[in-house]
Amino acid sequence: MTSTESTAFFARSWSLYDLITEHNYMFHREIYARVSDLLKLRKDIGRYRLLDLGCGNARFLAPALMRSPPAHYQGVDMSEAALEEAREHLAGLTCPIELTHNDLLEAAESTVSKWDVIFTGFAVHHLTHQEKERLFRIAGRCLLDGGWLLMVDVLREENQSRKHYLEGYLRFMRECWTRIPTDQLEEACAHVETYDYPESLSTLNDMAKASGLINSQVISRFGQHGTVMFSRDVPEFTD
Ligand SMILES: C[S@@+](CC[C@H](N)C(=O)[O-])C[C@H]1O[C@@H](n2cnc3c(N)ncnc32)[C@H](O)[C@@H]1O
Repeated sequence: MTSTESTAFFARSWSLYDLITEHNYMFHREIYARVSDLLKLRKDIGRYRLLDLGCGNARFLAPALMRSPPAHYQGVDMSEAALEEAREHLAGLTCPIELTHNDLLEAAESTVSKWDVIFTGFAVHHLTHQEKERLFRIAGRCLLDGGWLLMVDVLREENQSRKHYLEGYLRFMRECWTRIPTDQLEEACAHVETYDYPESLSTLNDMAKASGLINSQVISRFGQHGTVMFSRDVPEFTD
């Protein structure tokens, strides 16, 4: 698997992903409502710097950022089509917006900037085990004090094999994603079967701990779709 191959799907079929999210089949509405609530709790609204790895078109994160504006937003994605749309979705933000067309690990590894929030939505499961470890190392190095790594992604159950996970997810897609035309549904299923490598929460926690992010908190869970916050210290929220 290469990043280029796994992201080619999004370059080609961005409209299919949009259709899936339009019907809320991956719980984007509920997930991003919780992300929005979480960002509202930051004490540095208007001053925090956010890096969005695998930002796609930022359609769901953008409203949360409008409510809790950062001081700087950088989105990284391999899909130019998605980045073009992201520019439109983020147009209402008044802070500097940087959209980078690159592999998320390469972009993050080469950054000398520090971040208050590193956000990533439904992108990490495309990485190999070693690449996920690299991502956590980058987060451990680049997060400022009080920083959060906020990860939205699909998760495997503890001790569940990838094969068993895929059987369940593909069944869920075929049974529940009823408004996706059959040929497009099968294209999405083939993409999941080839490129999805989700981890269990305990594996992610181990990777995070090895990078100094010793706190983890599950923010939400909807079926296989979860949001986890990793941080160096216990997060301080406004009361
Ligand atoms: C499922 S979409 C998620 C988009 C958005 N973050 C969301 O939550 O709706 C995954 C995005 O990650 C991007 N992506 C996956 N692997 C990547 C990589 N290695 N480098 C950069 N972008 C990547 C894809 O191009 C795609 O836009």
